[in-house]
Amino acid sequence: MEKRGFWSWFLQRITALLLVMGMSVHFFTFHFSPGRYAARYHDEIIHRFCSPGWIAFHACLLALVVFHGLNGLWGICIDFNFSEKSARYVRQTLWFMGLALFGVGIYILVWFATTNGGF
Ligand code: HEM
Repeated sequence: MEKRGFWSWFLQRITALLLVMGMSVHFFTFHFSPGRYAARYHDEIIHRFCSPGWIAFHACLLALVVFHGLNGLWGICIDFNFSEKSARYVRQTLWFMGLALFGVGIYILVWFATTNGGF
C-alpha cells in the first residue's frame, strides 16, 4: 500500500463498491425489467437508455469502470518494483489510456443517443 499510495488503494475499494451498486441498477433497469419479452420492449429500452439522466448515469458508470480497471492494473504494476522513472511512464500511459477510453465511450454514448432520438 505504501508504494501504491493511499488514494489509489482507497479509491479502488470505493469504485468497487460503487460498481456493485451501479451495475445492479444498470442490470435491473436494462436487462430485467418487467415485460421484457413484450415486442415493444426493445423500443422502450432504447428510449430509456437515450434519456439525458440515463446517459449521465452511464457516463458515471463508464468513468468508474475505466478508473477501477486501470487503477487495478497500476496496483499490479507496482508489484514489479519498477524504477521511479519507469513507474512515472507507466502511470502516465495508464492516465492516457483512461482518458482515451473514457472519451471513446462518451463519444459512443452520445452518438447512440443522438442517432436514436435522444436529447
Ligand atoms: C462490480 C464489479 C467489480 C467489483 C465488485 C470489483 C472489486 C474489486 C476489488 C474489491 C478489488 C481490490 C482487490 C484488492 O486490492 O485486494 C479489485 C481489484 C481489481 N479489479 Fe475489480 N471489481 C469489479 C469490476 C472490475 C472490472 C470490470 C475490471 C476490469 C475492467 C476490474 C479490474 C480489477 C483489477 C485489474 C484489480 C486489481 C487486481 C489486483 O490488485 O490483483 N474490476 N476489484
